[in-house]
Amino acid sequence: MSPLLKIVLLLLSAYSPPRSSGDNGGESFFETCPPTKCSKRGPTIRYPLRLNTQPSFCGREGSELSCSANGSTLFHLPFSGSYLVDSINYYSRRISLEVQDGNCPLQSLLSMNRTDSILEYLSTNLLVVNCTRGGGAIDGMAGPIDCLQNDKDWVYVTDASATMDKLPSNCSISGNGAILFDGGDLVAGVERILRTRKIFMYWRFDEGCNECERKGNYCGINTSTNGTICMNPRHPSK
Ligand SMILES: *[C@@H]1O[C@H](CO)[C@@H](O)[C@H](O)[C@H]1NC(C)=O
Ligand SMILES: *[C@@H]1O[C@H](CO)[C@@H](O)[C@H](O)[C@H]1NC(C)=O
Ligand SMILES: *[C@@H]1O[C@H](CO)[C@@H](O)[C@H](O)[C@H]1NC(C)=O
Ligand SMILES: *[C@@H]1O[C@H](CO)[C@@H](O)[C@H](O)[C@H]1NC(C)=O
Ligand SMILES: *[C@@H]1O[C@H](CO)[C@@H](O)[C@H](O)[C@H]1NC(C)=O
Ligand SMILES: *[C@@H]1O[C@H](CO)[C@@H](O)[C@H](O)[C@H]1NC(C)=O
Repeated sequence: MSPLLKIVLLLLSAYSPPRSSGDNGGESFFETCPPTKCSKRGPTIRYPLRLNTQPSFCGREGSELSCSANGSTLFHLPFSGSYLVDSINYYSRRISLEVQDGNCPLQSLLSMNRTDSILEYLSTNLLVVNCTRGGGAIDGMAGPIDCLQNDKDWVYVTDASATMDKLPSNCSISGNGAILFDGGDLVAGVERILRTRKIFMYWRFDEGCNECERKGNYCGINTSTNGTICMNPRHPSK
């Protein structure tokens, strides 16, 4: 072997990254459950969410995403089917779901069942109000909502905690539901959903992950202890 080749080999071995011992729960977690995407432009999928092709311990319970054939990302609710994912913010714990064309965004939201999913149950109760045709906008109510009405009535929704003495005489309550908002006014929120067809949902708070994500790092779990671990994505071996 030439002395030059020897030096090159020496340098190469000196720069080779440290090998994982295999019993380090942190390193093996990010090796087994690496952040992934359905397409270049799609949102990053990582703990506490996971792709359906990854082992179940890669995400918290009810956090399963999948990739459709065209590269879009889908979020799977155990009792409500799949929703198209628009964006994911890991620090805010927010997933933005897009209601597909042809479906009424509000109907989709009212019938969404979050049982056994990672999504938070916190919500604002709303009332579905049914009025005779012709009124137009009503103060304190969102609507009239085209995709919820029938031939006879115009349909509005309002905050269930709002005083009901304001309900016009030709209106009646025809249903109720729960909706999750990032704070703010319910009427404005419903109008935003109708306009954008996008719904913001949040997953449950985790102190350890919050600390980690706040610093721009990636949260994960030590699979041998279930404790939170934190990885700097710019220095994955640290
Ligand atoms: C995971 O837990 C094991 C057992 O307590 C510990 O030896 C290991 O250092 C932990 N790994 C990380 C990255 O915290
Ligand atoms: C991609 O596929 C999903 C699921 O089948 C569908 O809902 C979505 O509309 C498609 N997107 C495009 C851009 O074709
Ligand atoms: C959601 O689905 C579960 C399982 O079928 C059911 O027990 C629960 O009552 C449903 N919740 C709502 C709000 O419909
Ligand atoms: C509105 O109320 C009327 C009378 O109770 C009922 O027949 C109708 O089905 C209701 N419409 C909706 C959209 O709930
Ligand atoms: C309620 O009835 C009155 C009188 O018929 C009508 O002028 C008004 O537009 C109705 N309001 C709604 C919300 O339908
Ligand atoms: C970690 O969590 C999983 C799923 O909840 C559970 O089955 C397992 O027993 C837990 N392991 C430890 C060491 O707590």
